[in-house]
Amino acid sequence: MADSETGQIDNVMQEDRLFPPSEQFCQNAAIGSMDDYQALYDAAKNDPDKFWGETAREELHWFEPFDTVCNHDGSHVEWFVGGKTNISYNCLDANIAAGNGDRLAIIWEGEPGDTRTLTYKQLLTEVCKFSNVLTGQGVGVGDVVSIYMPMTPELAIAMLACTRIGAIHSVIFAGFSAEAIADRNNDASAKVQITSDGLFRRGKTLPLKDTVNAALEKSPTVECCIVLQRAKNDCAMQAGRDYWWHELMEDASADCPALPLDSEATSFILYTSGSTGKPKGIRHTTAGYNLWTKKTFQWVFDWKPEDIYWCTADCGWITGHSYIVYGPMSNGATCLMYEGAPNHPAPDRFWDVVQRHKVTILYTAPTAIRAFVKWGDEHIDKHDISSLRLLGTVGEGINPDTWIWYHEKIGGEKCPIVDTWWQTETGGIMMSPLPGATATKPGSCTLPLPGVVPVIVDEGLHPVETNHGGMLCMAQPWPGMLRGIWGDEKRFQEQYWSTFPGNYLTGDNARVDDDGYYWIMGRIDDVINVSGHRLSTIEVESALVSHDKVAECAAVGRPHDLKGQAICVFVTVKDAQAGEALRDELRLHVRKEIGALAVPDDIRFTDGLPKTRSGKIMRRLLRDIAAGRQAAGDVSTLEDFSVLAKLSEDQE
Ligand code: WT7
Repeated sequence: MADSETGQIDNVMQEDRLFPPSEQFCQNAAIGSMDDYQALYDAAKNDPDKFWGETAREELHWFEPFDTVCNHDGSHVEWFVGGKTNISYNCLDANIAAGNGDRLAIIWEGEPGDTRTLTYKQLLTEVCKFSNVLTGQGVGVGDVVSIYMPMTPELAIAMLACTRIGAIHSVIFAGFSAEAIADRNNDASAKVQITSDGLFRRGKTLPLKDTVNAALEKSPTVECCIVLQRAKNDCAMQAGRDYWWHELMEDASADCPALPLDSEATSFILYTSGSTGKPKGIRHTTAGYNLWTKKTFQWVFDWKPEDIYWCTADCGWITGHSYIVYGPMSNGATCLMYEGAPNHPAPDRFWDVVQRHKVTILYTAPTAIRAFVKWGDEHIDKHDISSLRLLGTVGEGINPDTWIWYHEKIGGEKCPIVDTWWQTETGGIMMSPLPGATATKPGSCTLPLPGVVPVIVDEGLHPVETNHGGMLCMAQPWPGMLRGIWGDEKRFQEQYWSTFPGNYLTGDNARVDDDGYYWIMGRIDDVINVSGHRLSTIEVESALVSHDKVAECAAVGRPHDLKGQAICVFVTVKDAQAGEALRDELRLHVRKEIGALAVPDDIRFTDGLPKTRSGKIMRRLLRDIAAGRQAAGDVSTLEDFSVLAKLSEDQE
């Protein structure tokens, strides 16, 4: 049967480069060979109860032991049933008990250049005090605390204080509008709001408290607002509702034992963008989430106590929850936290930070890497970044040529790259190389972690053949998985469980190659169907990005009378002259790289692409523009409206 009939996706990209880890890296790694990986993977697959039961007993502190490792029935999943633990305890008290209380937990750098450090002991003191502040405001187990803050240590302190007392945090990225905050507060019935007076971004002060004031007018459930003084800008405080963080902390006791919480107690909700306007609060729980972030951090980053680990995400996203706060800290890692923009005061800020703090592990996003490529190598050449030993990426697929640049220019050809595939819903990393074991291929997230059992099916729910793409699903539960959508069981069922009953639907397409490596092919909704050939966005885009004049590219389909869909690509160029000659060059280039089938019908040059605030290209909006429609649907997650306005104007 043809791919067009089964709904499989054609694989048109061929990537043969292979990068095995160096012998030296393997020797020092906790998992130093493919045999070690395979043994772990098999143990988790063959007897999950034994594997996860033992791992949970080893890794987490149990106030009360669990009696059942896992109960599952379709979408209804529980892990470590009957047990009681506490995430904040596992991140703080446990490290101190192990003798690591004087190790740095956080090395923080503000955008203006101010720095602060906190040891695990110091962090515990702050967290205990703030836990008592929250309790003093009437916050108890199961209450929702809304957090809208800059990337300061207090953001992590607020999160850890919530999980310490069983309150549920809902962190909202500090770039969202008042409207978006109010929507989320109302959906969650948030009781307390935490924010700051302002935040520094590219040298300017953004008045966060003003935004929150507007949001709170429409958030009737919020009873009080705690305000961190960060930027010292003027802001309106409402008597009886608003309190300064530092004033409440003055009188707070530093004694607050962690509360034993049920394994399945909700730890946090995190809103993620859906295609409709209604916010979707992904709900995570306690023990399984904690264990998943702790183990995956060890496996994927091959973490050592002397590492200075830097994840450049914001705590407003799941990456910040799992790989700035909970995963690293439950291992006792030293985390660098940076408040500001990568290009302030100059495009070399990241490399300046790496050099000064001797960062050893860097975890960032493809959108940032593409920006570094565009800004030019001279910003890297100014700095000694040889402390780096491992690099990671997350958030989108990485085009192979961008991967090669990262490997050569940032990794000095010696650092393994872990391309980590996962989602807000999965709680932690699902597929990734293990840096001391897996030979990497640029653009592939390689292999599933222990406990992850992927299955790829076509539209008829039949497993696809090797090198054909289909819908990526998970056949088995894993400890870190979401437990629901806050207040919307129906949407939870429909979105993740109804397409392929009994399996979790990721919403991504993927293929497996001859070596069993996974290649993510983009979102299911983004597939381009040209004359019955179903093409993946990332493959077309990667072909264009491999041209040396292209900085970034997004491919979408638009309606076409004969072919069904035509390919329309939006391209930003490095510094070349965009024009008809370059269009011809790019068409020829794609023809050579992947063939006539994928040659774009329209090539549109643009200064920027519409992205979410977390840096993902919003192809949905580009589809509207390519079809000559007004870009519609939810645009509240759009980072820069002017990009969209410009693109829409260009077509008039
Ligand atoms: C979606 C999840 C994972 C934390 C940050 C984003 C895409 C993520 C990769 C990767 C290709 C990736 C997928 C996924 N994605 N990582 N390494 N390769 N695609 O979390 O906002 O929930 O987004 O991001 O499409 O489904 P999120």
